[in-house]
Amino acid sequence: MRILGFESSCDETGVALVELDAHGQAHLRADALHSQIAMHRAYGGVVPELASRDHIRRVLPLAREVLQRAEARLADLDLIAYTRGPGLAGALLVGSATACALGLALGKPVLGVHHLEGHLLSPFLSADPPSFPFVALLVSGGHTQLMRIDGVGDYALLGETIDDAAGEAFDKSAKLLGLGYPGGPALAALATQGDPAAFALPRPLLHSGTLDFSFAGLKTAVLTTLRKLEAAAGADGPSAQARADLAASTQAAIVEVLVKKSLAALKASGLRRLVVAGGVGANRRLRAELDTAAARRGLRVHYPELHLCTDNGAMIALAAAMRVAAGRARPQPAGAFDVLPRWPLAAIDTPPAAQAA
Ligand code: KG4
Ligand code: ZN
Repeated sequence: MRILGFESSCDETGVALVELDAHGQAHLRADALHSQIAMHRAYGGVVPELASRDHIRRVLPLAREVLQRAEARLADLDLIAYTRGPGLAGALLVGSATACALGLALGKPVLGVHHLEGHLLSPFLSADPPSFPFVALLVSGGHTQLMRIDGVGDYALLGETIDDAAGEAFDKSAKLLGLGYPGGPALAALATQGDPAAFALPRPLLHSGTLDFSFAGLKTAVLTTLRKLEAAAGADGPSAQARADLAASTQAAIVEVLVKKSLAALKASGLRRLVVAGGVGANRRLRAELDTAAARRGLRVHYPELHLCTDNGAMIALAAAMRVAAGRARPQPAGAFDVLPRWPLAAIDTPPAAQAA
């Protein structure tokens, strides 16, 4: 089965061709991505209208590039998949309109995919794919969740953030430190120069006894620390070392909470495999600490390939393939299309009624 997948939920336009072989093994034949980061940087964050317009400009050239690199023709496709939600309504509409128009023109079925399911299943495209069941730590710009995954479409929420997501904590702290958008990679880069033990920042809900997270207090602590440093430093502002130390301490606080809660989720569920997915899963300190903790306890940690951690078309094509193969979804002939900007993963099989764009 050959699936062309489209991702356009936020600030990356992603297209990919995934092939599912007779043994149910997924292979990435080609993928292409355009990141809008440079365009949104001037505004300090994603501007939804600009995002939609740029997706329109990029989506067809990227699809052509993917088909060319995979040496495939449109006629070879069996299914066209797209991100149906959650995400920015206008941005989602570009991917869904493209996929449905292609489906209609080619007489091929289409399937709308849940963006988070794409992230969750993305490690199945890695050289070291997991097997079910496992615990998933989903850490993106909008979500921080721990889930028990028993199979495709079989997801039980174990805990989640009660306020900011981990990626948001990175992004907001980076903004306070005057770093560019997106903040996660920028803060992580500055942190490599700093001392993670320099500032004792809060580890919210670390000992709550639940698997929930809270990161909103952290940015307040970062702000307070920064103000104190500014007051002490005078006109020149805090030293480069002090800023790096604060970045390192912020990253250490976020990572420690994510690692400890993941270990607690594995212990509580009795499972021995952890899958880390979503943009924050690209964080090197998070990976290093999880690997060390796992090695000590004889646990396995699986990650998507680094370039498939952040948004991409491959995870959408893959999720569609796996849902179809598992009998969890039936591709439909393309017809009227809708997107679901707000779509909780818990409602994956019972999507809320079509939402106005
Ligand atoms: O999954 P993703 O690409 O988009 C969403 O679906 O949200 O995640 C984006 C988030 C952003 O908050 C970004 O700052 C964060 O992932 N991120 C990182 C790193 N790379 C991306 N955070 C920490 N360290 C990184 N290396
Ligand atoms: Zn994402």
